[in-house]
This record gives sequence, C-alpha cells and structure tokens, in this order.
Amino acid sequence: MSAAFSRRTMLQLAGSGAISFAAGASGATTRSMRADFLWGAATAGHQVEGGNVNSDSWVLEHVEPKSFAAPSGDACDSYHRWREDMDIVKQLGLNTYRFGVEWSRIEPAQGEYSQAALDHYRAMVEGCVDRGLKPLITFSHFTVPRWFAGLGGWEEMANIDHFLRYCERTARGLGRNYRHGLTFNEPNLGALLSWQPDFRGAMPFFATANAAAAAAIGSSRFSSTPTFDTRRATPVQLAAHQRATEAIKAIRPDLQLGLSLAVADEQAGPDKTAIREKIAQVYTPWFDVVSKDDFVGVQTYGRAVVGEAADLPPPPGVEVTQTGMEFYPEALEATVKWVARETGRPVIVTENGVACADDSRRVAYIDRALAALARAIASGTDVRGYIHWSLLDNFEWNRAYTAQFGLVSVDPKTFRRTIKPSAFHLGGYARANRI
Ligand code: BGC
Repeated sequence: MSAAFSRRTMLQLAGSGAISFAAGASGATTRSMRADFLWGAATAGHQVEGGNVNSDSWVLEHVEPKSFAAPSGDACDSYHRWREDMDIVKQLGLNTYRFGVEWSRIEPAQGEYSQAALDHYRAMVEGCVDRGLKPLITFSHFTVPRWFAGLGGWEEMANIDHFLRYCERTARGLGRNYRHGLTFNEPNLGALLSWQPDFRGAMPFFATANAAAAAAIGSSRFSSTPTFDTRRATPVQLAAHQRATEAIKAIRPDLQLGLSLAVADEQAGPDKTAIREKIAQVYTPWFDVVSKDDFVGVQTYGRAVVGEAADLPPPPGVEVTQTGMEFYPEALEATVKWVARETGRPVIVTENGVACADDSRRVAYIDRALAALARAIASGTDVRGYIHWSLLDNFEWNRAYTAQFGLVSVDPKTFRRTIKPSAFHLGGYARANRI
C-alpha cells in the first residue's frame, strides 16, 4: 500500500499580456507576452535539498507503517548544488527561479533560529540576482518543522503565532532582492484530495502513520499536510495567510505577495454531480481571501470530472501520466480564466507540468499547455507568468523518486544533472517571449 500514494497520486488515488501578433513557423498565430512576463522553473525545499531531517515529512518517511515509497534522503543535494541549478535555469533562457525556504532548517527547534540557514537562503536570492534571474520565494511548501507537527500544526489556531515569527525572521533574513513571494503552496490540497475515493479510503492508514510519527517525536499528536483534518486546518491556514501577509508586508511593503492554489479544471460528470459542493469546499474560501492579494498562483495538472459524491476515474483508453492522471494540458485555459474571474487578481502560473518517463510527452504537454494559456490571455485574462514544475526530477512525496516531473534529470548517486530536450523547448518560448 505504501508505495501506491503520492500527494499527486492521491489526486488520482487520490495585464493583459498581449502586445502583438505574428504568424509562427507552424503557421499558427503566436502572441508576444508582456515584457516582464515571468518564465520560470520551480522546486520546493524538501523535494530537492536533501537531509531535511527536522521536517515533519522526514519523520513520516522513517516510521512504520510507511506512507512513502522511499525516504527523501539526499534528494537532489540542491542544498549544496543550488548554484548549478540556477546556472541551468539561466542557460535555458528562463528568467525566474521559484524555490522554497524550509521552515525546519530556519527554526529546527521551537524558538531556536538558525542564522546559517537564513544566510543560506539569502545567498540563494543573491545568486539568482547575480545571474539575472528573478527569485520567487515560497515560505511554506507543505513541510513544517517536526515540533510544529507535534503541536497540532495547522489544526490549532494558536499555532499561527509560530508561523508569523518564522515569516518575520525569514522576510528580514532574505533581504530585499526578491519581488515575488508565496505564503503557502496549495493550502487547499487536502480538501481537493478528499474528493479522491482512494485518498478518502486511505485516511485510516494515514492516521496510523501519523500516530507512529507522534510516538517517534514523543508527542500525543502529529498533524501533517495533506492528511490533517481539513475542516480544522482550512480556517487556520486562511487566517495564517492573512496574518502572515500583514507581517511580511510590514517588512517588505514592496513585495508582490500571494499564495498558490491547486486548481483542477473542474468539470461536471455525466450524471449526478456534486461539483457545486466541491467548489464551495475546496476553492471558494480561498478565492475570497486571495481577492485581497497582489496576485494569485495557479497550479494545474489536469482536469477533475466530479461525480455524485467524488471525482470519477479517467475514462478507459485515455493517456495517463506516471501518477495516473489523464494527460490533459488543455486544463490550463479553464483554470487561469476561472481563477482570474473569481478573484479579480492577476494570475501567475506557479506550477504546471507532467510526470512522464518519455520526455517527448513533456514537450507535447508544454506546447499544448502554453497554447491553452495563450487562448486565456487572448480572451483578456491577466496572466503574468508561467513557471514549470519542475526544474529537476525530485522527491515526489509519497511516490519518492518514481515519478519524473523534471526538465532536468538527476543521477541519484553522482547528482549529475542532465538537461532534457523539453527544457530547451520551454527555453525557446522564454527567449522569444512568445507563445
Ligand atoms: C506540489 C508539488 C508536487 C507537484 C506534483 C504540486 O501539488 O506543489 O510539490 O511535486 O504538485 O505532484
């Protein structure tokens, strides 16, 4: 059972941009993006750094029963090889690198802050700037310190204060050389996954794993994304986002700050559908809060067809990705239009990508997703950037290293990076600043 789940599989098991038009080589009409369009690739701390020993995920990766196919271990060793990673982003012709800051490195024990970790992330910000890259910083990408999980994590309103102190330290520590930030990555993921029958069915298993993690750290509880109780966690994270935004803006009033949402192209099933209930639960509370932000991050991997009480499986015969999702890059048109309309905010696509062993399918995915994005822009949607998930083949949560989302592969023994054709393909769009 353990190897079967990934946060994304759980998905299945669980300004107007236009300035000009021209005819592209294929004869199709192409569109220039705005001059400041963000073309990027993304990573998240725990998925690439390695040795993130004080995080909640590390604990769960090492208890029985295991909900992970393998532990994260050294991951891509990006904690040491970040310069090489940024060199690749630059070499590809992208202008943006999205990366995550790990709370458990900055505050490994409650109230004990690591200046060395803050200096590390500040050096990464400066490293981007030195290369002419714009850093987009994620303050919280799922993982939390193990001690925070042991306090009940996002299920306790009183715990927000810990997050605020971390955000303040981090905002001060990173300096002023970045212009874009996300408080949370996909805080609605747990709610979204709860519409997946297999994820629902696995909740008792996750509860056992969380109980084992609690015992391992000598606590009576262990609360972790996305297996926490979303009815308790959602109001806490909504409030945490608002208060963290105020706290960070007090230090960096000039920062463009928001959060990213997991957004599927939500479609009603052929018979009875609970799509309204699903949208009300998974998206509406977040849309309300996001409408006060500078922008909204949209993260789309495909569509969800909603049946009477849960999402329906992909129909037989359709192409599916390594994580069992339908290969459906067109989803991006509907999702960016919908989120922009519902929130009234400019959109940055902060993640979009596909898990596949055959890189030519990633090339096809990029072409079709960008064509979908261009249609959304043509219809008047204010899209400010496209950031691909992921720069590297990395630790894909419960699936560990069995799903390849990367534009670049990483040798697990030598950590040697090999740039895939899809990376150069995406870079071509970025250099031309045109879709
Ligand atoms: C997450 C990433 C994850 C990706 C692919 C998103 O939900 O932000 O951390 O690796 O999807 O599953």
